[in-house]
Amino acid sequence: MMPAAGSGQRMGAGFNKLFLKLGEKPILIHTLDVFEKDPACIGIILAVKPEERADIQNALEKFMITKVKALVDGGGERQYSVAACIRAYTDNGIVLVHDAARPFIRRLVIRELVRMAAEHGAAIAGVQAKDTMKFAPGGIVEETVDREKLWIVQTPQAFRYDLLAKASAQAEQEGFLGTDESMLVERIDHQVRIVESTYDNVKMTTQEDLVFGEIFLGRRRQEDND
Ligand code: CTP
Ligand code: MG
Repeated sequence: MMPAAGSGQRMGAGFNKLFLKLGEKPILIHTLDVFEKDPACIGIILAVKPEERADIQNALEKFMITKVKALVDGGGERQYSVAACIRAYTDNGIVLVHDAARPFIRRLVIRELVRMAAEHGAAIAGVQAKDTMKFAPGGIVEETVDREKLWIVQTPQAFRYDLLAKASAQAEQEGFLGTDESMLVERIDHQVRIVESTYDNVKMTTQEDLVFGEIFLGRRRQEDND
């Protein structure tokens, strides 16, 4: 399940940032490619803006992405876009929710997420904070937080489908809006495990992320050739 129906406000490109290129391909295609090449991935449900559907369909053909099984209409919030994917899914087993804006996710991390979700129901990618972390409401430090216990959370987030569907339905019913799917599962009291990911799994959000993106892309190509 891949939400791709944002507008990329913070990137400031004037259009959906997922169409911006890294190297020769749009960000969206780089992200899809990871799953296209993953033999464990049996299909992708992509949430898109209705007005971008045709362009995205063309891009899928052009770059030979074959695993997208459904394009669903996204909503005005990321959570609604994911909810549309959840509704369109008709199977069981383990599902992953992954931001289309994170092209550098590693297959090794995906494998571990799937394994952990199969065992425990819910597992999310994250990295440990590198800097000293302070709790400072209103800009005044109250406490230095134990860094060891803090995780910066990313996607993919992997779930048993029934658990995710239940959490999503409950959030919808109660009008709860979260910033990731883990929050929805946490609030129905299911334990969520963190799988250590990599620092380069950044979400292409602002202009400087594109600079990192080009560097990471070069590095990945190098690795693939090794
Ligand atoms: N997304 C979505 N539907 C929305 C909002 C976001 O499918 N209503 C998707 C984006 O396309 C992206 C992912 O969710 O792949 C993460 O969102 P974010 O990085 O915030 O992207 P945008 O919302 O597009 O960017 P911004 O918040 O800067 O406008
Ligand atoms: Mg957004």
